[in-house]
Amino acid sequence: PRRQPARRRTAALATVPVAVAALIGAAGPAAPGTTGASGAGDPYFPLSGNGGYHVRHYDLTLRYDTTSRRLDATAVLTARATQRLTRFDLDLKGLKVTSVTVDRATAAFRRDGQELVVTPRHALRPGREFRVAVAYHGTPEPVTDPDGSADGWIPTDDGAFVAGEPQGAMTWFPADNHPKDKSSYDFTITVPEGRTAVANGVLLGRRTAHGRTTFRWRETRPMAAYLATATIGKFQIERYTTRDGIQVYNAVDAREARAAAPVLRELPSVLEWESTLFGPYPFRAAGSIVDHAPDVGYALETQTRPVYDSAPDLATLVHENAHQWFGDSVSLTAWQDIWLNEGFATYAEWLYTEQHGGRSAQQAFDALYARPASDGLWAYPPGDPGSGARIFGTPVYARGAMALHELRRAVGDKDFRRVLRAWTTGHRGGHGTTAQFVRLAEQTSGKQLKQLFHTWLYEPGKPDSA
Ligand code: ARG
Ligand code: ZN
Repeated sequence: PRRQPARRRTAALATVPVAVAALIGAAGPAAPGTTGASGAGDPYFPLSGNGGYHVRHYDLTLRYDTTSRRLDATAVLTARATQRLTRFDLDLKGLKVTSVTVDRATAAFRRDGQELVVTPRHALRPGREFRVAVAYHGTPEPVTDPDGSADGWIPTDDGAFVAGEPQGAMTWFPADNHPKDKSSYDFTITVPEGRTAVANGVLLGRRTAHGRTTFRWRETRPMAAYLATATIGKFQIERYTTRDGIQVYNAVDAREARAAAPVLRELPSVLEWESTLFGPYPFRAAGSIVDHAPDVGYALETQTRPVYDSAPDLATLVHENAHQWFGDSVSLTAWQDIWLNEGFATYAEWLYTEQHGGRSAQQAFDALYARPASDGLWAYPPGDPGSGARIFGTPVYARGAMALHELRRAVGDKDFRRVLRAWTTGHRGGHGTTAQFVRLAEQTSGKQLKQLFHTWLYEPGKPDSA
């Protein structure tokens, strides 16, 4: 393959005519506006995602050796150019890339931090659909997030716990790694016989040969890269179809089985309860991946099938599955809006408890509101956490849920339900912003709510009166 030297932009290069620059495969300036941006424009994660194209589909073929922890992979992305592209980026951290093709023609590429910079042989016209194939291998490693947590491909003693929020997708596949871009996915994952590889969506088939088993998974509904998983381990498998026709696949590490069983048993009723509140379950498949990954410390709402680092409690099961509506089906356009995911999933927990004989959402609210102004809960406002280091903090989860409770009190239970429904219905499979949510709440209720949202989402410190 034609490899492109990692070359810095120099003044001399800038004088090379565009056509010549393209010929010599230089990374230097082409005509303005024809190189895809290195990020999606998110101030919290400036290099996450890319500009100039949209990925329609990912076809990921992975082979993982659980002993050596080596990954051998090919990713084929079907994408559409949204501008003329002489060059574009993918996000990929670590790993060795051995070849890149664009529409079967060898393309030049270079690595620049987490950017895989691809220069196709011919410029791509705007609107043009193209196919990028990337062959790569190596030992994937998790990425350390600004808050100190790790995400991405996290090796375990029997496989890997794979959860990519907010950044980790790029630790195991080349991606347009921002929730602005949603795509369908095919996974073909080969692991040593006796291990199970669990990804998103529906299991198309499994085949064992020569001591290895290949699992094929497919998610047809649009999915953000961070919600993809390919979690590998020794799992006990349970499969069934719910009354609503949802295909459930649970994979549970034997060490967590006893603790997980009574909680996982509630999954169908939790999904039914959530469907009555939030509208029809947005996907064809559901389930759980209960891993034994002691160093992780969180669960993730991986689309169709949340992944848990250990047996979840019921509140966590409710939370991660509520995310299927809030976050997975209706996705963020910027990480700053993270309360649209976490505030809603937390409020789902409060509602579940309230409607199942536990404390009311009002009591949950009051207990939090009683905390002194110096408490970490009031350290920053949930609608504007201020940096990627704060997106999973208490203000986002708890005060985000408090904001929804205040909305509920202002508009009443009936209109509150109507707002939630209209949100999940109107933005199903797509995106939503805080501004859109505020507008929808006002339209649905006929009330002025800007001040309420301003107070609870954006005002620093503890809001004055509840
Ligand atoms: N969205 C997850 C939840 O259900 C949390 C993910 C945390 N990720 C991280 N890198 N710390 O709340
Ligand atoms: Zn959450």
